[in-house]
Amino acid sequence: MVKVFPLNINNLIVISLLLLVCAKTSVAYSVVAFGARPDGRTDSTQAFHKAWAWACGSVKPATLDVPQGRFVVQPMSFTGPCKNRVTLRIKGTIIGPSDYRVLARSNVWLQFYNINGLIIDGGTTGTIDARGQPFWSCRRHYGYCYNGAQSISFVSCNGVVVRGLKSMNSQKSHMSIKNCNNVALNYLTLRAPSGSPNTDGINIQHSNRILIYGSVIKTGDDCIALGPGTKNMVINKIACGPGHGISIGSMGNSLREDGVHNIVVANVVFTGTIYGVRIKSWARPSNSFVRNIIFRNLVMRNVYYPIIIDQKYCPNNQCPHQNSGVKVSNVSFINIKGTSRRKEAITLTCSPSNPCKGIKLQDINLTFGSKPAVSTCSYARGISRGKVIPPSCF
Ligand SMILES: *[C@@H]1O[C@H](CO)[C@@H](O)[C@H](O)[C@H]1NC(C)=O
Ligand SMILES: *[C@@H]1O[C@H](CO)[C@@H](O)[C@H](O)[C@H]1NC(C)=O
Repeated sequence: MVKVFPLNINNLIVISLLLLVCAKTSVAYSVVAFGARPDGRTDSTQAFHKAWAWACGSVKPATLDVPQGRFVVQPMSFTGPCKNRVTLRIKGTIIGPSDYRVLARSNVWLQFYNINGLIIDGGTTGTIDARGQPFWSCRRHYGYCYNGAQSISFVSCNGVVVRGLKSMNSQKSHMSIKNCNNVALNYLTLRAPSGSPNTDGINIQHSNRILIYGSVIKTGDDCIALGPGTKNMVINKIACGPGHGISIGSMGNSLREDGVHNIVVANVVFTGTIYGVRIKSWARPSNSFVRNIIFRNLVMRNVYYPIIIDQKYCPNNQCPHQNSGVKVSNVSFINIKGTSRRKEAITLTCSPSNPCKGIKLQDINLTFGSKPAVSTCSYARGISRGKVIPPSCF
């Protein structure tokens, strides 16, 4: 449905708007007509299933309405292929079951699988709330509490627009995208407390042409994490923090792995995050790579590691005396300003056997209180342009 356009933020936004306009001419099914109850108690999973079956089976474009109120839904899959485009219009709130184990035993709460042409429109009020608090609390106190669920997962989808949706208190990540093409995530609000374990904002893997635009992410782990096989992606106008910043990786966990390439991260404000922009790889052999990456126009406010490449990642000493095989090249850091919580504002720790190549630092001003910040390099090669504070270590 979405034709091949050159990757460009404006084109992707035009596609998003077109999809929304088209949605106006569709047939509508309300989950309430299938027995869903907006009372915050009654299990409405079967009603959602039935309503989805009608919407997905509709020859005309269909809209599935979730009106105001609170609807309890258990883990479920919205499975395609559908006969035409489907819009899920959420005005109310979808909540997880009160017993957290129901979600925690499943890896995913709301899964969208094998769908071509999907719009999830949260308007200004649409919310999903996994009610993850007892799950995080169990993890803090008892260790094993089942896996935990991602709140929304898109698998093998093409042509997806999610707009204006709010996701609260996910058990694990709020949203994940795997094996998808042409996905625009616009105006999202993703929230979980800073101390909630592994609550990433958005995880992406093996996907092509993804846009994340105009969103606010406050969570307990990475705001956005791009894993193996992510390419042609734009992240623009994001507020991130609290959280662990925007990360490429972990890369190179396995010997054979798809790389990450053609990524632009622009106009992001990081507030009180641990990392700003980060590339992270395991210190073990791999054929993987990270290349053609631009990080530009970023503001760091009290960030512990504003700019970091870490190719020595190896928790629990699982890779003694090994180097990362991941080849990092052509990565630009341009116009990055603000404050670092540590003296070392720029850390480029590359692999001794595969030094980083073509790293560019341009127009950077990162300060550390009233003292000068520093940059450190190991096996990093590149150039510095314009005013770079702290001075580059190439
Ligand atoms: C480096 O990456 C940029 C951004 O993706 C790209 O436009 C440029 O062609 C790349 N340069 C090389 C030498 O590959
Ligand atoms: C760098 O930022 C600091 C703090 O905002 C400012 O005082 C200083 O003038 C800036 N330096 C340059 C060269 O822009």
